[in-house]
Amino acid sequence: MKTLKTSLNKKNFLSLNDLDREEILSILELSKDLKRDLKNGKSTQLLKGRTLAMIFQKPSTRTRLSFETGIVQLGGTAIYLSSNDLQLARGESVEDTARTLSLYVDLIMARVYSHSDIEKLAAYSSVPVINGLSDTFHPCQILADLLTIQEKKNTFNGLKVAWIGDGNNVCNDLVLGCSKIGMNLSIACPPGFEPNEDVLYVARQEASKSSTEISITDDPLKAVQNADVLATDTFVSIGKDEERQQIEEIFLPKYQVNSNLLSSAKQDCIFMHCLPASRGREVTSEVIDGKASVVWDQAENRLHAQKALMCMLPLR
Ligand code: CP
Ligand code: NVA
Repeated sequence: MKTLKTSLNKKNFLSLNDLDREEILSILELSKDLKRDLKNGKSTQLLKGRTLAMIFQKPSTRTRLSFETGIVQLGGTAIYLSSNDLQLARGESVEDTARTLSLYVDLIMARVYSHSDIEKLAAYSSVPVINGLSDTFHPCQILADLLTIQEKKNTFNGLKVAWIGDGNNVCNDLVLGCSKIGMNLSIACPPGFEPNEDVLYVARQEASKSSTEISITDDPLKAVQNADVLATDTFVSIGKDEERQQIEEIFLPKYQVNSNLLSSAKQDCIFMHCLPASRGREVTSEVIDGKASVVWDQAENRLHAQKALMCMLPLR
């Protein structure tokens, strides 16, 4: 019988780089158990008495709700901290904020602009730090997305994922996730919007171990050939609203996921989007509301995957 890890090696979860394949699979296994227990009305108080601090520099619907609901379901408590309400807003350093929060709470989750902020938080905190999205990574999203793919396809073996659009924070962790798990990934993006170079370097090394491939093209039709999974995200990430017009001129209409593009993938291809979506821009309503779409499963799986993650981080 396969032995699964019950505790993760690293203290922090800042990107998929912090997990190996076995750890990712263990989180997915526990996610499925927790999901089943919840559906059966079985209470699992694995984090009874524990407190999670959640710092938000940016808005959020799913991340905030799934973390807050998740820890409550596990017997713990969450504290929502808008960065505007903390002394951070008046210039207290991230380092001192990390030291202070560590005195009171068992876990910290933060959504930040600069990835270096979450790295500092992790370096100066004595409790585990989870990245709830930075400009560079969104690892919790990809845990939920891997769970969704596994549920829908029953396997990762031999699958091809196509990512259409911006090589952004979600895409960076998808690159790491696919390469570690062993799925082929084809990315179609405009030149200059490729995923992070360091991420690609690490991921290509990982992919070679599982004989899978990560390819990049500027042609969406080429990327979706034979795809089992078609994924996209907004062209305009949080913090880029002022550049919306210029960005959309680059991406539209070529990189929109519509029925025509979806019909070039495999017949049973699923459509994924982390949400929030801009219908009529990166995806048409026909696709996101259509039968291939699994976006609500993804959103729900944020809850189950993050509950598993919190249970497996090495708490004090
Ligand atoms: N997908 C995601 O992270 O959603 P929120 O921005 O609403 O948290
Ligand atoms: N790439 C998007 C993801 C939102 C969940 C952003 O950073 O705004």
